[in-house]
Parts: sequence; C-alpha cells; structure tokens
Amino acid sequence: MKILVTGGAGFIGSALVRLIVREGRDRVVNLDKLTYAANMASLAEVEGNPAYAFERADIGDSPAVRAILDRHQPDAILHLAAESHVDRSIDRPAPFIETNIAGTYRLLESALDYYRSLPEDRRRTFRFHHVSTDEVFGSLGLDDPPFSETTPYRPRSPYSASKAASDHLVMAWGHTYGLPVILSNCSNNYGSCQFPEKLIPLMILRGLEGKPLPVYGRGENVRDWLFVEDHAAALLLILRRGQIGGTYLVGGENACRNIDVVENICDLLDAMRPAAAPRRRLISFVEDRPGHDFRYAIDTARMRSEFGWRPSVTFEEGLRRTVRWYLDSEAWWRPLLEARYDGERLGLARQGAEGAT
Ligand code: NAD
Ligand code: TYD
Repeated sequence: MKILVTGGAGFIGSALVRLIVREGRDRVVNLDKLTYAANMASLAEVEGNPAYAFERADIGDSPAVRAILDRHQPDAILHLAAESHVDRSIDRPAPFIETNIAGTYRLLESALDYYRSLPEDRRRTFRFHHVSTDEVFGSLGLDDPPFSETTPYRPRSPYSASKAASDHLVMAWGHTYGLPVILSNCSNNYGSCQFPEKLIPLMILRGLEGKPLPVYGRGENVRDWLFVEDHAAALLLILRRGQIGGTYLVGGENACRNIDVVENICDLLDAMRPAAAPRRRLISFVEDRPGHDFRYAIDTARMRSEFGWRPSVTFEEGLRRTVRWYLDSEAWWRPLLEARYDGERLGLARQGAEGAT
C-alpha cells in the first residue's frame, strides 16, 4: 500500500514516516508545508530510501494537493498536518482556523475528488484517516470517568475548537459523500523530535541549560502521556483494520500531574548530566494558562479489545529514553532554539485574539 502522510515533517508525522519505512511493508509520501514546527532533520534516516518521497505543499492548496494525489496514487491518506500548540492558539488563533479547519476542508475536497477518480476495487480499500486530539472532549475533574468513543465534544481552547471542527468535517464527508473516513483521538504525545515549545522537551532543554522551569499554576493539571512510537504503531493498526466511520481513542495509560512530570525530568537530568545544584530548584510556579483544561484521561478499551494494542513502555521508561535522546541530539534542537523559538513564555493572551491575524 502507498500511504500519503500530511504533516510528516512534524513530531508525530516523522515518527510515523520512520516507522512505515522501517517496517518495509508500505511506501510513504510525506506532504508538508514546512512551518516553524517542521524539521527535516527528523527524517534523515529515510532520506533517499526508495519507499519514501517528499512533497512540499500546503494542505489548503487544492491544485497542488490534487496534482500530488494524481502523481503518487496513494491508497490511503493519514492526515496529521495541523497547527498543534495550545499556547500559540491563544496568542494567535488565525493559523489554527486556516490550517486545521479550512485546510482540512480543502484537503477533504481534494481527497474526495481523487477518491471518485479511482476504479471500484481501489475505492473499496481507500481510507482517509484523520488524526485528532482528546482535547476536543474538554476538561475532566479528578473523579470524572475517562474519555471514551462516546464522550460528547466540549472543546475549550482555540486549538481544541479548531480540531473539533475538523473532526466534524471529516465525519460529515464520510456520512454525506461516502468518503471512507476513520478518526482517532489521542492523548499528549512525548518522545524524540518534539518541537521544544511543548512541556516535556521545553523542560528538558531549559533544565539542561540551568534556566527556570515554568510550571503553570500549581502544576496540578493532569495529562495522559503517550509514547510517540506507540502512537505511530497504533495509527497503522487503526488505518489497516479500523472500521470505516469509526472513532478510536489512543492513550498512554500514564496519567500524571505536570509537577510530577517536571520533577521526574529534573531527577533524570541530575542522574544523566550532573549539575552543581539539584534541578528541582529551578522549578518556578508561574501565572496559569488562560482557560487551562484541568485533566485529560482516556479509556483505551476499544484499542485493546479490537486490536490487542497496548502501550509498550511505562512512562518512566519512555521519559528516560526521551531525556537521553535530547542529551544526545543537540544537532537536532540547537538550530531550532537559535532560529525559531528560544523558550519564551507563550499563551498569556496579552495581545488578545484580535492582534492576532
Ligand atoms: P507538529 O506541530 O509537530 O507538526 C505539524 C506538521 O504539520 C509540521 O511538519 C508542519 O509543517 C505541518 N503543517 C502545518 N500546517 C500545514 C499545512 N497547512 N499544510 C501542510 N503541512 C502543514 O504536530 P504534531 O505534534 O506532530 O501533531 C500531529 C497531529 O497530531 C496534529 O493534527 C495534532 O493536532 C495531533 N495531535 C498531537 C498531539 C501531541 O501531543 N503532539 C496530541 C493529540 C493530537
Ligand atoms: P503542552 O505540552 O503545551 O500540551 P497541552 O496543552 O496540549 O496539554 O502542555 C502540557 C501541560 O503542561 C499543560 O497542562 C500545560 C503545562 N505547561 C506548563 O506547566 N509549563 C509550560 O511551559 C508548558 C509549555 C506547558
């Protein structure tokens, strides 16, 4: 099978592309616009491999996308391209609306047009798999049951609202036009090659450089952490075996308070790269994120029962591997800190959504 991955130069997309090429079973085309969040260094391992091709394009550029589909003739589209950072969505929602909503709409139109051009036998196996987030379900209290496939949508940030809108569009293109769609919603990913704006890589790199570690509020918010390689494996299972029109929730079964995550990172850094003083002293509680969702948690029963999937690593092991990877991969992250993002606080909504466009 040939799979077209959108957003394959990003964090999860690059893990997925690497996995497909390593498996040696399918071919993959990576369609990516190369925004600030992309890093071609994440794809060094697959460059030049005949099973891999790269196309630079915006998912919203319909003529370009349609031509790429015609040229490569994929059997499936795995759609990951998106603006993905909640704090940036608070400061500047416009690109989130543009890419996540309008871009997904245009991609659906291109995909439908392409799908209709296929012969019947290829239409039968074609899939459009949309990758989304558990944040569309809103925020849980400490005693609420975890999100499941039937939880109603209650997005609360510009990011999660834009992803919820894209999920609804995808399902509508399935119901109304018969595009064979599949949807998956996952929890917070972590692992190698994550842009250092997100909690875990930001804390690792700031801790390494002895800078303050900004924990929002009291650090009591809870996230479920999914190792990115486990997520990539789950995506391929869902794509190959999932039901058309189905929703699949993928979680790491590793719920943890932010303060515990940051303290763990401090201890790992102290053990692997000792410093004069314990890194925990760098922790600083800072003004909370506006509208900060308190807790996310996922019920993974469907993934376990339908596919026998389960996370392969504990959070302890995954975090250890992740810290090790950042320590060993300065050539990957140093240029990002120098040219694109130096770790400053984002998402305080100082400028308001309007200054934003
Ligand atoms: P990322 O920000 O690391 O990468 C996004 C990629 O999409 C980048 O390579 C970027 O260049 C590309 N892109 C952005 N706009 C584009 C456009 N208009 N056209 C083509 N390419 C474009 O994101 P990620 O963390 O890898 O997330 C991938 C997907 O998974 C997203 O849809 C995100 O909403 C979803 N998701 C992520 C997480 C997480 O923890 N990272 C959790 C749940 C869901
Ligand atoms: P993040 O990695 O931005 O993912 P998301 O907002 O999609 O869950 O943040 C994870 C958690 O960490 C979230 O509760 C916000 C918190 N956080 C901090 O406390 N400090 C930080 O510097 C960042 C970036 C996040």
